[in-house]
Amino acid sequence: MATPRVLSGMRPTGRLHLGNYLGALKNWVALQASCDCLFCVADWHALTTDYGDPSQITANIREVVLDWLAAGIDPARSTLFVQSDVAAHAELFLLLGMITPTPWLERNPTFKDVQENLKDRDLTTYGFLGYPVLQAADILIYRADQVPVGVDQLPHLELAREIARRFNHLYGETFPEPAALMTEAPKMAGLDGRKMSKSYGNAIYLADDEATVRAKMARAVTDTARVRRTDPGEPDHCPVFDFHRLYTPEGERDEVARGCRSAAIGCFDCKKLLCNHLWEELGPIHQRRVELAAAPGRIEELLAAGAVVARRAAEQTMARVRAAMGLRR
Ligand code: TRP
Ligand code: SF4
Repeated sequence: MATPRVLSGMRPTGRLHLGNYLGALKNWVALQASCDCLFCVADWHALTTDYGDPSQITANIREVVLDWLAAGIDPARSTLFVQSDVAAHAELFLLLGMITPTPWLERNPTFKDVQENLKDRDLTTYGFLGYPVLQAADILIYRADQVPVGVDQLPHLELAREIARRFNHLYGETFPEPAALMTEAPKMAGLDGRKMSKSYGNAIYLADDEATVRAKMARAVTDTARVRRTDPGEPDHCPVFDFHRLYTPEGERDEVARGCRSAAIGCFDCKKLLCNHLWEELGPIHQRRVELAAAPGRIEELLAAGAVVARRAAEQTMARVRAAMGLRR
């Protein structure tokens, strides 16, 4: 069997946090070993919600790519590119728009969710409604087999499959149906116990240095029933312990749990131990990020090279698409 082609993307909305890393990026890094991967910075998708103030998008592209590289995305193995560098995505978006029934888009649960969560913005735009059509174009234009995404993206993936089927039905077999590659995101709360999210201000960023990570962790909420140092705690009720489950070796972790339940160990030492293990993973990422950030021209070069590869692949598909639809060019 041919090497599966993988495509995924992220919107350039700012630096990536540990939740983004564990929920998607870490999986992308692993997929590079077995798949032909393309990773897209979806700047047009960022415009669907940030059209009122697009001034940060360009800077954020750089931040996101820095995070990708620092985490281990390897431009020698994978193609990294910016969506708007490959204009053919817009052409396919337009053509797919012709065959996508608007009720499919109006029914999309993400559409309603985001409209309700971002009440300060007017999201009654055509572009926002068409978000999943553009995403389908991103995927189908590379005839991707697999799309690694978090659960929140499953409705979009389902739409991409429906659009592919409809296209194939109308104009003949052109697109493989892309499968969602679900990332098993471990339950990872933010520092306040809620879901880790940039907008909650409760995140640990890949760009954070060691002192920042330790300071943030020191403020993290623990078992709220454990008020005094002498009160016993319950690790199962503590968001910090979820980090231990991920980063601390089992034996040591069991010891921490016992110490917490008997009040033999305090939250201060418990967190300190956690940070030692956490930094084993984050330290090298942070270090690479610092080195990469010192050579800004490198990012531009790499994105330019990625765009050339992506455009070539996209053009091949577009030739088939135009022919299938009986268009002139
Ligand atoms: N919608 C995705 C998100 O918000 C980003 C994205 C854009 C994407 N194009 C894509 C994801 C194509 C997978 C495939 O996270
Ligand atoms: Fe949580 Fe550790 Fe404090 Fe127990 S000792 S409540 S696990 S931070």
